[in-house]
Amino acid sequence: MPDWLDAFPRVALAHTPTPLEPLDRLSEVLGGPRLWIKRDDCTGLATGGNKTRKLEFLIADALANHAHAVITFGAIQSNHARQTAAACAKVGLDCHLILTRAVAWDHPEYENNANVLLDDLLGARIHRCDPSDAKATTQAVQQELGSAGKSIYLIPTGGSNPLGALGYVRCARELLEQSAALGFHPNRVVHATSSGGTQAGLMVGMAEAGGVDSVLGINVYDPNHEAMEERVRHLARAVRELGSTVDASALEPEIDHRYLGSGYGQPTSDTTEAIRQLAELEGIVVDPVYSGKALGGLIRRIRAGEESTNSNVIFVHTGGVVVQSVYRTAFERPTA
Ligand SMILES: Cc1ncc(COP(=O)(O)O)c(C=O)c1O
Repeated sequence: MPDWLDAFPRVALAHTPTPLEPLDRLSEVLGGPRLWIKRDDCTGLATGGNKTRKLEFLIADALANHAHAVITFGAIQSNHARQTAAACAKVGLDCHLILTRAVAWDHPEYENNANVLLDDLLGARIHRCDPSDAKATTQAVQQELGSAGKSIYLIPTGGSNPLGALGYVRCARELLEQSAALGFHPNRVVHATSSGGTQAGLMVGMAEAGGVDSVLGINVYDPNHEAMEERVRHLARAVRELGSTVDASALEPEIDHRYLGSGYGQPTSDTTEAIRQLAELEGIVVDPVYSGKALGGLIRRIRAGEESTNSNVIFVHTGGVVVQSVYRTAFERPTA
């Protein structure tokens, strides 16, 4: 039977398969399940991250639609924006980034360094604005490009539409091949969830293969829990409608909302502790906005006895480490 995913054009942007590695020292210290890490921080595109897999499908669609320019959206330190800028540079599309001041983070270089520096080096045009001005700013950019005769391809925040989420259907298949080759059954896959495309794609891919008992998103973004769940549910069902035969009733999102703290982009003490613990025990660095906050949540769950000690849990490292330098103050230790 032909593979339904083959109906969608894809440009090769990601270094795949990304490694799946055991976290032996962290597993031992925590005394819970056997932990593994899927290194999607290593997808390779301008330092990589989870958006690269989505962009393989989105950029292919932009090219199929004869676009000259891509417009996309994110917070100032958006990892999605940086990977989109890199993807556009690689295939020769103009890239416009509408970056909103959506996160109150007090660091003198927050607006210009880290991801924003890379956006600039990658040749993207950056349009900074307050969230309330995003619509007007987008319209002005569309008008400018339209008058220059350029056709535009819009990519939503986080690359999270059904087409983008196909990148994580592929990732689910990749993970199952790797875990089978390593000789274990993954009981749960855990990752940071915000715009929802990563989780929606993983849910469809895993449900199709029946390969994992649970895809658990840790909410790092939305204080409205119902809205977050509805976004993922809706996306997963829309992904399914692109051609999967999986039963829609199998697509109920599982999201743990307990670790958001004071909000998106605000690391908690669990976040910074998890970042240090993983770095010191495994030599792997996660970020304070997404992957570190999700890992902090997973570690709390293990400490509370919520993860079976007889299980295998895969944590997906979705990237984001570029932002670390402008979060320096979150890691300051009290001086003796
Ligand atoms: C590093 C990182 N991890 C996780 C996510 C969440 O992925 P999604 O937006 O698909 O839920 C993002 C999204 O911006 C991200 O940049």
